[in-house]
Amino acid sequence: MKGETAAPARPYVHLNCAVSLDGRLAFAGGKQAALSGPRDLARVQALRVQLGAVLVGVGTVILDDPSLRVHWDLLHQDPGPAPVRICLDGTGRLPAAARFLDGTQPTIVATTKSARRSYPPSVETILAGPGPEVDLTTLLRALAAYGLRGVLVEGGSHVIASFLRARLVDRMTVYVAPVLIGEDAAPSLMAGPASRSPSDWVELVRESVEPLDDGVLISFRPRSAPAIPPPPASL
Ligand SMILES: NC(=O)c1ccc[n+]([C@@H]2O[C@H](COP(=O)([O-])OP(=O)(O)OC[C@H]3O[C@@H](n4cnc5c(N)ncnc54)[C@H](OP(=O)(O)O)[C@@H]3O)[C@@H](O)[C@H]2O)c1
Repeated sequence: MKGETAAPARPYVHLNCAVSLDGRLAFAGGKQAALSGPRDLARVQALRVQLGAVLVGVGTVILDDPSLRVHWDLLHQDPGPAPVRICLDGTGRLPAAARFLDGTQPTIVATTKSARRSYPPSVETILAGPGPEVDLTTLLRALAAYGLRGVLVEGGSHVIASFLRARLVDRMTVYVAPVLIGEDAAPSLMAGPASRSPSDWVELVRESVEPLDDGVLISFRPRSAPAIPPPPASL
């Protein structure tokens, strides 16, 4: 229609995580590490509200059993609309008893043809590719059609790698906690094969650095200009 701007082909993607000073997302074996301080936790709640959708991989659901709800108390606000929570479950490993599937807020499972299982009726299912991995471009197109304007990608290591390698991140924020975990068997910020040369690494541009809690918050944008603008702030 004349005067109307066309909806973007995919939602704005903001990737956020907390790491130790040596770039680890969790303890050895993936055991959850509380790396964020109170102000960083509140910042993440505000992002969940602003973007309207939170996405994690099934590895994070299995290891951490997150609710992905908004902790309104940290924002000193009355509860508002719950963000849509999304899990990448390409092979159907999502535990039936996971809090993610408790039906308390809008929930989407992104899966593939190779997953032979069903989910509770309260869950919206998006079939994204033949599998085993969820095809991110197909998924984001479907999320845009679902009406989402933004998605907060929270991890873990493999999901972060997939979004970064596919160049599907418009903004990235990393909270660096002043602790060291050590390398063996502790998931790093980005899983998968290491880059072999600068032609292969993921290049970002630093936008800001600020002290936060006992650590530092660093904001980045991709080296190539983001194609999708952020949704308007609702806070
Ligand atoms: N510090 C932080 O900010 C933070 C935030 C979140 C999570 N974490 C930590 O991250 C760790 C979990 O990370 P993780 O790497 O094991 O699991 P993950 O990234 O949460 O999930 C990975 C799994 O998602 C499925 N998947 C489907 N499509 C995918 C795609 N296109 N790309 C990537 N994965 C896809 C795959 O499952 P299939 O193998 O079944 O195909 C894959 O193994 C936990 O230790 C958690 O505590 C830390």
